[in-house]
Amino acid sequence: MGIKIASTGSYLPDRVLTNFELERMVETSDEWITTRTGIRERRISEGETTSDMATEAALKALENSSPEDVELIVVATATPDAFFPSTACKVQAKIENKKAVAFDVSAACTGFIYGLYVADSIMRSKGVDRALVIGAERFSKIVNWEDRTTCILFGDGAGAVYLQSSDEEGILAFDLGADGSYGELLAAPSVGSNEEPPHYVRMKGNEVFKVAVRTMVDSAKRVLEKAGLTPDDVSLLIPHQANLRIINAIAQRLELPEEKIFVNLDRYGNTSAASIPIALDEAIRSGRLKRGDVALLVAFGGGFTWGSCLIKV
Ligand code: ACO
Repeated sequence: MGIKIASTGSYLPDRVLTNFELERMVETSDEWITTRTGIRERRISEGETTSDMATEAALKALENSSPEDVELIVVATATPDAFFPSTACKVQAKIENKKAVAFDVSAACTGFIYGLYVADSIMRSKGVDRALVIGAERFSKIVNWEDRTTCILFGDGAGAVYLQSSDEEGILAFDLGADGSYGELLAAPSVGSNEEPPHYVRMKGNEVFKVAVRTMVDSAKRVLEKAGLTPDDVSLLIPHQANLRIINAIAQRLELPEEKIFVNLDRYGNTSAASIPIALDEAIRSGRLKRGDVALLVAFGGGFTWGSCLIKV
């Protein structure tokens, strides 16, 4: 049995927060943010919950399908509506599905690749034919809006893919990993810890940066090797959208030309687990990815966690 990406969807809140507005909130500048990160603006929820955004993205992915047929819902998020019920269960209720197994996965910015891996494994081993994998985040609720080193980076949004069993193979290979010894470099504590609230995101940005580049390049090379492909076979690189300098460094090391790199972080910032499915949806809907094209998805995030996936559209 093969698995194909049958359709995709995404949702971004309407509210745009520009670098110029941030200049009035913390000691920063559009020039600093643009040159250090590539981000110009990001979207901020004005009341949409993580599950609301996840549901909107899911319904777009399901626009030509029946929500009641979905058998598995996996939501990758670090910012769920609640500890329980899971965001996936909330999505299931909102799309009026009664059939699916539904749960969340947590791997920070790598969450979507982890979710894809879990869904792919369950579909193949249990004969499940239809699965939704969603990345959805509301980081605006866990950043400290007085901390210029983090608040300029993140945005809210959601992206979804609808996977279906198929005669064709649409998911070619995975490479995943984690190294928990780096946990403190990028963290957002919660109620199980001994840390008193407020529980904000904290990050040693420049240390994360170095490991991120090296790890994403190594993971991308491994997944290509597993699939027996080379960078020349890749139609489009869809990296996690954290920092344009990280993306350019990866592209350079993989010797991929600029036209093969998908970037939308200038408009959305880092949407964590939502970044890759939002980018994938935009790449497909805009025609940057066409039927038969091979896309290389590469992510890195808190944990540390990392993951790559090669897909054939
Ligand atoms: N405006 C102005 N100055 C700033 C700002 C700001 N918003 N933020 C930091 N600075 C200052 C710092 O205080 C520092 O000043 P100093 O030299 O006087 O001490 C200087 O700018 C340089 O700071 P660095 O942190 O060294 O800047 P760097 O070039 O590393 O850029 C950034 C910071 C953008 C965070 C970068 O390190 C980065 O993108 N890191 C990786 C992030 C990432 O990939 N995360 C993984 C995914 S996220 C997840 O999993 C949730």
